[in-house]
Amino acid sequence: MTRLNFTVNGQATTVEVRENEYLAEVLRYRLGLTGTKIGCNEAECGICTVLVNGAPVDSCIYPALKAEGTSVLTIEGLAESWNVELRMQNAESSLHPPPSKQSEGGSSFLLHPLQQAFAQGGAPQCGFCIPGAILTAKALIDTNPDPSEHDIKVALKDTYCRCAGYSFITNAIQAAARSIRTGEPLPADLYPLPETKTPLKVIGRPLPRPDAIDKVTGAAKYADDYAFPNMLHARTLRAKYPHARIKRIDTAKAKALPGVQAVLTAEDVPGEKNHGLVIKDWPALAYEKVRYIGDPVAIVAADTREIATQALELIEVAYEPLPVVDNPVYANQPDAPQVHASGNLLKHIKVRKGDVEQGFAESDVILEREFRTACTEHAFLEPECAIGRVTDDGRIEVYVGSQIPYQDRSQIAACLDLPERQVRVIGALIGGGFGGKEDIAGQIHVALLAQATGRPVKMLYDRHESLLFHPKRHATLIRVKMGAHRDGTLVAVQTELYGDTGAYASLGEKVMTRATTHSAGPYAVPHMRADCYAMYTNNPPAGAFRGFGVTQSAFAVESMLDILAEELSIDPIELRRKNALRVGSVTNTGQALRESVGLLECLDRVEREIRRTPFAPVLRPASFVSGKVRAWGVAVGYKNTGLGGGAPDKAGAEVELFADGTAEVRTSSAEIGQGLVGVCAMAAAEELGLPYPRVRVLLSDTDLTPDGGPTTASRQTYVTGNAVRLAARALREALAATLAEKYDAPPNRIRFEEGLAQVNGHRIALGDAARLIKAEGREPKALHEYWAPQTQPLGTGGDMHFAFSYAAQAAEVEVDLDTGEVHVLRLVAAHDIGRAINPLALQGQIEGGMIMGLGNALTEEFIVEQGIPFTDTLARYKMPSIKHAPKITSFIVEDETADGPWGAKGVGEIASIPTTPAITNAIYHACGVRVTSLPVDQDKLLRALKAGRHEC
Ligand code: FES
Repeated sequence: MTRLNFTVNGQATTVEVRENEYLAEVLRYRLGLTGTKIGCNEAECGICTVLVNGAPVDSCIYPALKAEGTSVLTIEGLAESWNVELRMQNAESSLHPPPSKQSEGGSSFLLHPLQQAFAQGGAPQCGFCIPGAILTAKALIDTNPDPSEHDIKVALKDTYCRCAGYSFITNAIQAAARSIRTGEPLPADLYPLPETKTPLKVIGRPLPRPDAIDKVTGAAKYADDYAFPNMLHARTLRAKYPHARIKRIDTAKAKALPGVQAVLTAEDVPGEKNHGLVIKDWPALAYEKVRYIGDPVAIVAADTREIATQALELIEVAYEPLPVVDNPVYANQPDAPQVHASGNLLKHIKVRKGDVEQGFAESDVILEREFRTACTEHAFLEPECAIGRVTDDGRIEVYVGSQIPYQDRSQIAACLDLPERQVRVIGALIGGGFGGKEDIAGQIHVALLAQATGRPVKMLYDRHESLLFHPKRHATLIRVKMGAHRDGTLVAVQTELYGDTGAYASLGEKVMTRATTHSAGPYAVPHMRADCYAMYTNNPPAGAFRGFGVTQSAFAVESMLDILAEELSIDPIELRRKNALRVGSVTNTGQALRESVGLLECLDRVEREIRRTPFAPVLRPASFVSGKVRAWGVAVGYKNTGLGGGAPDKAGAEVELFADGTAEVRTSSAEIGQGLVGVCAMAAAEELGLPYPRVRVLLSDTDLTPDGGPTTASRQTYVTGNAVRLAARALREALAATLAEKYDAPPNRIRFEEGLAQVNGHRIALGDAARLIKAEGREPKALHEYWAPQTQPLGTGGDMHFAFSYAAQAAEVEVDLDTGEVHVLRLVAAHDIGRAINPLALQGQIEGGMIMGLGNALTEEFIVEQGIPFTDTLARYKMPSIKHAPKITSFIVEDETADGPWGAKGVGEIASIPTTPAITNAIYHACGVRVTSLPVDQDKLLRALKAGRHEC
């Protein structure tokens, strides 16, 4: 160990460090400054940025000893450093902005204008990138007090935000810089938002998220930010081959290594050997076979992470390699090796409507094409982490950022052979999920190791392990046959889909069902037939990923619509309008749409906007030989809200009022950056007539919060939002009944506003009303379990889903005919989400979803060859950075749904669905090459251009 002397956040600091330790590790694990995040361990994502002598550095690869004698600023010290600056400025000049003062929970502190602008302007979603982004921005405005958008893009080009609030970040930086330059306070409406309906008291207002301050100050706690005395560190030995029989595992040498406290294999799993969200086919620890390269073979807990890592190398495993099944079409061949004893077919999914053969016979034109989509990676910036410990009363506690805490609990309990009540899952904040944190990661392992050692155990994946292990977006092959009348009326659509669900089921069946049911697009088609084969392979499992299969089929069908439009010489927007679902239409699964179908209005809004520009859509490809060409492309999409398909869809929430006039909402639903915590607080505040800041929200604790169900399928605003709304309403009614009796007034004459109940000229603080209820021997709280409207299984007709969101999007692209490079210059979007609960958070979801759709179109691919991932570092996964973020124009369509809270439907997924085909359609309109395989390959596009081919 070596002594490191430096200044940290203005404090002289001395700490003993190892020679090979990095600055981020020292800050986080030795000094407890957990506001500095580690996202990749390879200086790729930039979120670990701190300032060393005022300059931004990637602290995850910055040798700690290099910081000797320097002054380091982390996010925790930013506000104080700003106050020091202010005091110095005050001594010299009167020009300064009034400090942004926060006062919560009795303590008071001053924020740097960047922190205030980020929080107020909606920049934090999951928040994991925010400390790094703010410090990078500080370094920029320290040297450039008036940065242009271009300056910001250059400075932050290597600081990623996967929630993709890039325009929010740019806007916040410019607002903060302006405030610092001029001394003016930040404007109240910091981020320009699309028009929405007149707000209620709280609902419909663009409010900062309740956790925004914690996220801009570094106080927000994610799983790796927790530590316990005497804690051990765990690591996982993963498979050496993508498909092999396990002949023998010898852990003796690893167990003998000093500092190792436990080495466990499948033999040490006392309960069920497998876990799984739908089908329990995924071994907690591999036995008999490994089926993909991320399979866990053994786990180790040791005094330090380094010892645990050394121990992995001492575990001897004898394998018998087996032939690899590397794609779903091969997997479906009769002679393909079997991944599971049950065979390679996870599910054959069928959709039938009308008589597709008759439909084609009646068609004037029939087109057939084949499309491929890539396996893609969530790339949430927070790698997986779980901590397990045994409590004094012998229960197992697991701290984890999970999208489904109650299902985690039941899976942990089953594998440990414990009753569920013996397990508690406590949700930490989640640094992005996008569907990728629905499956079990280290939860069962830390529980097993904590039980085996009696000590707390932390298991933190580095980026490499995270990439190898967790489920991806399904790679698909989609064949579409489409028949239409000459006037453009769709008559028949037939689709065949192959989905690569990888080694284990995860949510593959559900995802590919959604891909299949949506595979004829949001159109009224009388005759439809779809067959999907969700196939096991030896690739990483595929599961939930924002869009849930619809992203893939939307690319295919929206490309087909454009091909058909050209074939029939019909404007592509007009063709979509002609066939679009509307009230009265019947979907492909036989569901009659009775309300809330805003697709046509979305199309109208987008069309009006893009027709205003000089680059109107062209219907036929132009023939250019050199230079850069631009064009618009359009696509539409729809996505169900909620689980659907007959699955029980419910959420519980509890709301309690306290004597100090605050309220708490409790539900297990997860906040993954999407803004649920704000929706819950707003729903309770609206119903109780409380100021929004007086409502706090406790999420994801299986002991303390009712089950909110999975955070998936764009369901939380609708389902949990309703649970909170109705719980708060029940509490308000209880308050009203008590006050009515005391003041001799009818309950319905009592008004609840601004934290007061007004009755017969009396104004009673709600805290006092809570005391009155307590004095009656009751608790001032209410629990509501909300059940979403019943849905029907696929194939039975009727309502397969209780609501759909709709979107139309347009992309303007520029294609460089000399290089094949594609730039998205502008995106225009209209989304029908029922009702905007919080327009600021809504816009964050929309823009983030669209940037993810842009990445899906142009750059993102998780490459696996013969079961071996090539994409084993973040640097090998090209996701959009701030420099790829185009100007986005957004319109909100609020076609309310009857049962949604204040009419709201889901937004989490729909925003990323039409973006990809809008871009690929624009590419075709610009240069005449139809993209049939994602992502767009610049070299393939160039070769097609040079060869005069019209497809790549
Ligand atoms: Fe930037 Fe989530 S807010 S990664």
